Amino acid sequence: MQDRLQALKEEALLKIQQANELKELQEIKVSYLGKKGPITEVLKGMGKLSPEERPVIGAYANEVRDAITAALDAKIRQLEQAAIEEKLNKEAIDVTLPGRPVRKGNSHPLTAVIEEIEDLFLTMGFTVAEGPEVETDYYNFEALNLPKGHPARDMQDSFFITEDILLRTQTSPVQARTMEKHHGRGPVKIISPGKVYRRDDDDATHSHQFMQIEGLVVDENVRLSDLKGVLETFAKKMFGEDRKIRLRPSFFPFTEPSVEMDISCFKCGGKGCSICKHTGWIEILGAGMVHPNVLEMAGFDSKKYTGFAFGMGPERIAMLKYGIDDIRHFYTNDLRFLKQFKKA
Ligand code: PHE
Repeated sequence: MQDRLQALKEEALLKIQQANELKELQEIKVSYLGKKGPITEVLKGMGKLSPEERPVIGAYANEVRDAITAALDAKIRQLEQAAIEEKLNKEAIDVTLPGRPVRKGNSHPLTAVIEEIEDLFLTMGFTVAEGPEVETDYYNFEALNLPKGHPARDMQDSFFITEDILLRTQTSPVQARTMEKHHGRGPVKIISPGKVYRRDDDDATHSHQFMQIEGLVVDENVRLSDLKGVLETFAKKMFGEDRKIRLRPSFFPFTEPSVEMDISCFKCGGKGCSICKHTGWIEILGAGMVHPNVLEMAGFDSKKYTGFAFGMGPERIAMLKYGIDDIRHFYTNDLRFLKQFKKA
């Protein structure tokens, strides 16, 4: 019986040694040490042994069992270790490989132009003010010297939400809001960029939603020549130091006098080309001296205070500056367009 056990042990150890997979070891364990295995089978015959032989064989059977169990455990550990090592080798990271470049976005061209304009005015001592896009009839029109029924209201086709609430058609209501906050005391010196809305059919030069940048200065002794100086500085910084400006008479209900500012054409220098429509001049913005009614409605004494205001369209400025031929490019977000404005 001992020989039989000895043979089983050697057989099992050999198989364990040759096994290459955890599954095989599992099978060996079941077949040698399981209830139906040969060792159990041998031990069932113990009853036939003499009382002296029984403990000897019993002890030996345990030894065989322990030896097989120990060999199995050792081999399992060995295979597991090998599996881990193989996995580590396979997943090794080559830290010397060059990195993948991180894809960076860039500012929208309109945002970039607006920020450029903001920076320019900040250096001249202006601050940036904001106002709501959903505006009351009062601030969008009445406080700007456009009472109900005024014919000039038709200059800006509006999206009314109720009789008294509309999407602002211009950034000029921020003038009235800002002046009110100053409670009749100057100086006021702000620019205000933002979205505005008009009932226009969209085409290459019209959009039902677009941007404006408003400017407002109110103080004692503010004159038209101050407006001219500020606008000239702006024109030269945005379109080149050799730009000239000219002011033409115009009409806005909230300024008196009202002007329109042209710059000398940056393309042909004034000789006449397709950009300036052969006039040598390009229209850039509307401006004027703040109407006394507007000052008074916002709580300023128009005998003591004067001011100037201007309003420009950053889309138009960006289109001129970068030669963009369709305003819709700003809003359709084609990456091929947007990526051209990436700064190096
Ligand atoms: N709000 C005017 C417009 O939209 C522009 C403007 C602003 C004119 C300020 C004069 C002064 O046409």
